[in-house]
Amino acid sequence: MRISKRAERIEPFYVMEVAKAAAQMAREVARSDTPMIFLNIGEPDFTAPPLVQEAAARAIRDGRTQYTHATGLDALRERISGWYTQRFGVDVPARRIVVTAGASAALQLACLALVEAGDEILMPDPSYPCNRHFVSAADGNAVLIPTTAEERYQLSAAKVQEHWGPKTRGVLLASPSNPTGTSIHPEELRRIHAFVQSKGGITLLDEIYLGLSYEDTFGHTALAIDDQVVSINSFSKYFNMTGWRLGWMVVPEALVPAVERLAQNLFICPSTVAQHAALACFEPESIAEYERRRAEFKARRDWFIPQLQAMGLRVPVMPDGAFYAWADCSEAAQRLGVQGSWDFAFAAMERAHVAVTPGRDFGHAETSRFIRFSTANAMAQLQEAAARLKDLLR
Ligand SMILES: Cc1ncc(COP(=O)(O)O)c(C=O)c1O
Repeated sequence: MRISKRAERIEPFYVMEVAKAAAQMAREVARSDTPMIFLNIGEPDFTAPPLVQEAAARAIRDGRTQYTHATGLDALRERISGWYTQRFGVDVPARRIVVTAGASAALQLACLALVEAGDEILMPDPSYPCNRHFVSAADGNAVLIPTTAEERYQLSAAKVQEHWGPKTRGVLLASPSNPTGTSIHPEELRRIHAFVQSKGGITLLDEIYLGLSYEDTFGHTALAIDDQVVSINSFSKYFNMTGWRLGWMVVPEALVPAVERLAQNLFICPSTVAQHAALACFEPESIAEYERRRAEFKARRDWFIPQLQAMGLRVPVMPDGAFYAWADCSEAAQRLGVQGSWDFAFAAMERAHVAVTPGRDFGHAETSRFIRFSTANAMAQLQEAAARLKDLLR
């Protein structure tokens, strides 16, 4: 069968390949004293809180399961708009909000609406792999720019300017980032956006982890800077609804009709049941629960990262959000007699039964030295994983 060049260009999502190997090994060691601990997958260990579950059950029971508008339930767009006012002090009118099947669909819609064949989109290296593949799927080219710990693994205005060429169409940043959990400084983002605008380009912000911010300096939406920014968000992470497949995007007014046309044709609408359930996310009781969980994510970060540092798995920048630790394993790998983060990840999986993700997915610059831990796991599991890793690296 002849496969399209577009499909051939998309690399495998190695996080998932490693997850398959970890799941296989987990079956083998399930009955041992040390069953597998999964610190490789980036999804909350919590599920949707009770009000959200009840709202989903009610929608099903009442038969409210027909298609909705392609842009989502008006009531949900209003609730999301209210969330921006309450939480971020930013006025985002509901008509600029498009509800989608997760951030993934929002990113596809953004790329299809804005990227022409051959256009280049600048992104930091390391960054979330699917984001560059969304650009590729729209026949554009993602240009990965190596970043440093000093830059919090984010792009700077100087670097954007340096790499801007005749084919560049814009930038795509994730803040807080996956795999580093670090955010871009609001002032740097302002400078980047000003430059991008001066070139007639687009600033795309993947803000899927924005709800999980732990420092006052960060945790502001890029929508506060300008209504021309395209912001992507999701119910997956802060709202703990990964498998419900629900997210949203906020787009400039002029972009709404194009995104709506694409959404109508490609998806018809996001899951109706998930949308009815998501309305309950914004009830005070649910928000109180989400905030309790956010504090728990922060407590895990505060405990786990010093443990990694102490055992020689250096985390160059303390994450200010999300639930990841981006750790340099080169010295630890040497101690184990293995080379690079890919082999280190398999050694940790095979010898300590701790699954982690090698850097390979996330870019090219330094990724063979780095592994990503997800701290979206119970504290007891993190403690057990730290003890096993300490033992392994002794
Ligand atoms: C940075 C980033 N963007 C987008 C996504 C996709 O999320 P969703 O479940 O909302 O499609 C993820 C998922 O891990 C992510 O880490």
